[in-house]
Amino acid sequence: MDEAATRDGTRRFRDRLAGTIPPEHFRAGPNGLLLSSIGIGTYLGSPDDATDAAYGQALVAAVALGTNVVDSAINYRAQRSERVIGMALAALIAEGELQRDEVVICTKGGYLPFDGDYPADAGRYFQDTYVRSGLLTPADLVAGSHSLAPRYLLDQIERSRRNLRVATVDVYYLHNPETQLTAVDRTTFHTRMTGAIRVLERAVDQGKIACYGVATWNGFRVGAGEREYLALADLVELAEREAGKSHHFRVVQLPCNLAMPEAFTLRNQRVGDHFGSLVEAADELGVKVVASAALLQGQLAGQMPEILAQAMVGLDTDAQRSIQFVRSTPGITTALVGMRRRAHAEENLAVARRPPASHDDFLRLFTAREG
Ligand SMILES: NC(=O)c1ccc[n+]([C@@H]2O[C@H](COP(=O)([O-])OP(=O)(O)OC[C@H]3O[C@@H](n4cnc5c(N)ncnc54)[C@H](OP(=O)(O)O)[C@@H]3O)[C@@H](O)[C@H]2O)c1
Repeated sequence: MDEAATRDGTRRFRDRLAGTIPPEHFRAGPNGLLLSSIGIGTYLGSPDDATDAAYGQALVAAVALGTNVVDSAINYRAQRSERVIGMALAALIAEGELQRDEVVICTKGGYLPFDGDYPADAGRYFQDTYVRSGLLTPADLVAGSHSLAPRYLLDQIERSRRNLRVATVDVYYLHNPETQLTAVDRTTFHTRMTGAIRVLERAVDQGKIACYGVATWNGFRVGAGEREYLALADLVELAEREAGKSHHFRVVQLPCNLAMPEAFTLRNQRVGDHFGSLVEAADELGVKVVASAALLQGQLAGQMPEILAQAMVGLDTDAQRSIQFVRSTPGITTALVGMRRRAHAEENLAVARRPPASHDDFLRLFTAREG
């Protein structure tokens, strides 16, 4: 069996669904993969058995209905989200419902994770697990909970591979690396990023991950003068210095939704000799863009202004229309939606049966804002 998502496997997934889902639902991703325009996220919820079971069922439904992008992070729900993904996908594969090479498994490292539940004394847990064990020194830690230290990242990649039950993680993100900029200067940040990129390139060489990038919250949505600002061209340049033009820094993630459209609207990134949007910069640099928080943590799922229904036509609910907006944003490969409920997976994946909104309909929302 293949150990990772492949070009052929992701095409097979698309072709199997061809009777119900139009081909535009699948977009060109990194390494020649085809990625569904709606992916399942696993951030929210308590670290308990009931939430595990709910995510497992929602994941099975989402995959059956056309999702082949699964997103997690080692710290989500104290590693339980990674573990439930590993369990649910292994079961689907064992039952012959899915093949490993059809699904793009993505996770993140950076925030120190708990293990199964939240301990009473978090500081002590981190001290015992990560500092006493020699994986981190106190100087490697930012905000008491974030690190890009090479030895620590190596450990985190191994833990994620075990949790997810995979030989190869298809996309490995450094999680909110801009957190480091709240504590260290930009030169130190670039030194730390270089060390992290070196680890990730080696992990690619060893087949432990297939490609990597950064998953961010503020970094790409603030102006170039802001402390947490990330310049995509600078990050890609660090990767090129480490591994040449064939580096594997191929995906970025940032929030993109009706309330946070900066990936498309804010010209804060160098693109050649001018400043353009993040999606323009990513396109020029050969980096794919994945949108997180497509529903702004559920806040865009109800009681939206009428103009949304007028622009995102043919859909029944505001959640569907909000997702349609994100997957129709130029330059966005996949819109990630957190779904613990099977009913939400069914409602949200109904959007995949429709083509994305036309560019004119998409732009109507911006015209309306200005008017
Ligand atoms: N910095 C980062 O790296 C970062 C930050 C944020 C998010 N992410 C990724 O992006 C994913 C998506 O973001 P998110 O989970 O934070 O927020 P989200 O996708 O914007 O919203 C998820 C919430 O919306 C609810 N929901 C889903 N479908 C719905 C529907 N049809 N009607 C009503 N409510 C609905 C979900 O409920 P149920 O769960 O009950 O179904 C959940 O409470 C995350 O899971 C994570 O994988 C990454």
